Amino acid sequence: MTQTAHGVEFTQHLSETPKSAEERAAILANPGFGDYFTDHTAIVDYSVDAAGNGGWHDARVEPYGPISLDPSAAVLHYGQEIFEGLKAYRHADGSIWTFRAEANAARLNKSARRLALPELPEEYFLGAIRELVAADKGWVPSGDGEALYLRPFMIATEAFLGVRAAREVSFRVIASPAGNYFGGELKPVSIWISREYARAGRGGTGAAKCGGNYAASLIAQQEAEAHGCKQVLFLDQFNDNAVEELGGMNVFFVMKDGSLVTPALSGTILEGITRMSVIQVARDMGREVTERKITLDEWREGVASGEIAEVFACGTAAVITPIGVLKDATEFIGSEDATAGETTLAIRAQLLGIQTGTVEDTHGWLTRLA
Ligand SMILES: Cc1ncc(COP(=O)(O)O)c(C=O)c1O
Repeated sequence: MTQTAHGVEFTQHLSETPKSAEERAAILANPGFGDYFTDHTAIVDYSVDAAGNGGWHDARVEPYGPISLDPSAAVLHYGQEIFEGLKAYRHADGSIWTFRAEANAARLNKSARRLALPELPEEYFLGAIRELVAADKGWVPSGDGEALYLRPFMIATEAFLGVRAAREVSFRVIASPAGNYFGGELKPVSIWISREYARAGRGGTGAAKCGGNYAASLIAQQEAEAHGCKQVLFLDQFNDNAVEELGGMNVFFVMKDGSLVTPALSGTILEGITRMSVIQVARDMGREVTERKITLDEWREGVASGEIAEVFACGTAAVITPIGVLKDATEFIGSEDATAGETTLAIRAQLLGIQTGTVEDTHGWLTRLA
């Protein structure tokens, strides 16, 4: 069957062995994060010849399953890979919506430019999401804080060991039902300071969402977990220990006058869609928001003096999570007994309300998928 989405044709080969309604219900009763996948995947392939003739083709939905790759595929050797993360939310009337998917499509293309991958026309990105969610609607959970996490990604599939940008590429979307990222109730998390490792450097790929950045962050994340912390904070050690971001989230400070501060985009941090939405939502609430350099010294001194009233992390997976403690072997900022701050909770409620359809979407951020 062929369908039209955003003017792009997607061929549909639906699974003959989808999970039964009972199996799906058992998974949705406790989805966790990233553990289970839906019955289908959306795919668009790309190929060009040496002269650059060709492009995107064969948009389709297929049963979810392993990818067959030549052992010399460029992605396996040179890490030419990028990805995105966004969610589909079920509203109270059963309809399914996504949040700022156009921003994810734009960010994917920014990452593509940095990793010398081909840009994907927005209609393919949005079409793939729409077609996949249409095929797997029954997988969108409806519980509090739950959603269907969508993972678009692009890999260099060309079988060739020379070091150059691949001429064969595949764009795919998979989906995974998701509960609360950190599990349980909204408790402030402890964060570990990475002193030894950076995830990005000037001129590097920090502003792109590519697998290599995450591979580079894992050793620091392991160190964090070994010290009872949920995430790791990366600093710019060559720039007065300027705060950059966490392994998978951006950071905000709520000052005692009610204004917000977040690290300015420096080329080494990822521009989160949640970050840009928090900035807008906070301004809509009458708050002043400043993007500027903020150092570890300012964090320490601000918490001690009361100038910094609340700190929170934000990203698609965890939405908004209060930070209670920031520490390493020599530093302990905050308190183990911290509770979620009022401003953190208010911004979280507003953002989640827009995403889940209980607060008016005045910016046109939602798109109906099904
Ligand atoms: C390194 C990093 N920073 C920030 C974010 C937050 O981005 P977003 O709000 O678009 O999920 C993410 C999550 O994708 C991330 O991996």
